[in-house]
Amino acid sequence: MSITSPLSSLSVKQMFDRDSCTYTYLLIDPKTHEGVIIDAVKEQLERDLLCIEELGIELLYSIETHVHADHITSAGSIRQNTGAQIAYSQSAAIKSIDVQLNDGDDLIIGEHRIKAISTPGHTAGCMSFYVEGMVFSGDCLLIRGCGRTDFQQGSSEDLYHSITQKLFSLPDETLVYPGHDYNGRTCSTIAEEKQWSPRVGQGKSLDDFLQIMQNLNLALPKKINEAVPANTNCGINFRPDAYIHEAFSMQSLYKVWRQHEECQPNEKSNNILIVDNRTTEEYSVGHVPRSLNIPLGTESQHLQALKNHNHVYLYCHSGRRSQTALTHLSILGLSNITCVSHSGFPEWLELGFPIER
Ligand SMILES: [Fe+2]
Repeated sequence: MSITSPLSSLSVKQMFDRDSCTYTYLLIDPKTHEGVIIDAVKEQLERDLLCIEELGIELLYSIETHVHADHITSAGSIRQNTGAQIAYSQSAAIKSIDVQLNDGDDLIIGEHRIKAISTPGHTAGCMSFYVEGMVFSGDCLLIRGCGRTDFQQGSSEDLYHSITQKLFSLPDETLVYPGHDYNGRTCSTIAEEKQWSPRVGQGKSLDDFLQIMQNLNLALPKKINEAVPANTNCGINFRPDAYIHEAFSMQSLYKVWRQHEECQPNEKSNNILIVDNRTTEEYSVGHVPRSLNIPLGTESQHLQALKNHNHVYLYCHSGRRSQTALTHLSILGLSNITCVSHSGFPEWLELGFPIER
């Protein structure tokens, strides 16, 4: 679908990935044919490249609003095919990108200036992009909603301030183009969201917002274990076999543990390591026998030990802390990590597996 803002001569194409409900945007300067793509999806690479070719677009940038957890980006492949530079927020700490953006930086296409606005909260490195009466808000502000904040260094407090202080300070008529919509809506305005967003509309307080966000109880995205590590490398050179997908449960961990226990001591040395990402207090009450306690946030102090094992398995209480630790470690370059991301130690107990105190 092609759209334009009354304030802009920029041509904008909004495209959709049905599987992840992601919007990808192509912004084109009609005079120079220079363009950018925002949040391109791996499965839609052919569609996007064809469109770029048919319209004769000289693609200057492949922009990512953040490290996505629900789909793999095609930014790396788009760069290989078109020569576009990959632009990301500096605070997303992504390897092998071309342009590191800070709050207020501009990307220029033809006569148009796309302004990067740092809008952390959904993830710590989220950015929105404003150009001539339109804001591409990624997963910060969605239509009648906002991104979740329960993993990838998310913060509900930061998200509230990003929306209410940064995006809501844009002119009311600004068109809002989100990173996703799950209900078939394509576009909103700042005025509409100020009025009708059930999470932040009608002047909702930070306390109201925190209350709402704490009670969302969402399941983790299906593809998080492959998408996050892949996206920290722009979707390229990704070895899916290095990561185990959603089916990796505490039961799977038990099988790994059992095998390890059964092999001879001389075979064990650097084979596998099971890591408990809970707090020291939780760990001391009971844990997987011979697991190593690395509370979330301290994993960089144990890098060498983690690198010294062929494979490292992470678990915690519910899977969220392990998932976050996996993200940190993959950013630090480790590819030997698997995590139990949909359950945790309570399941180990329930299943009657041995514990150590
Ligand atoms: Fe997201």
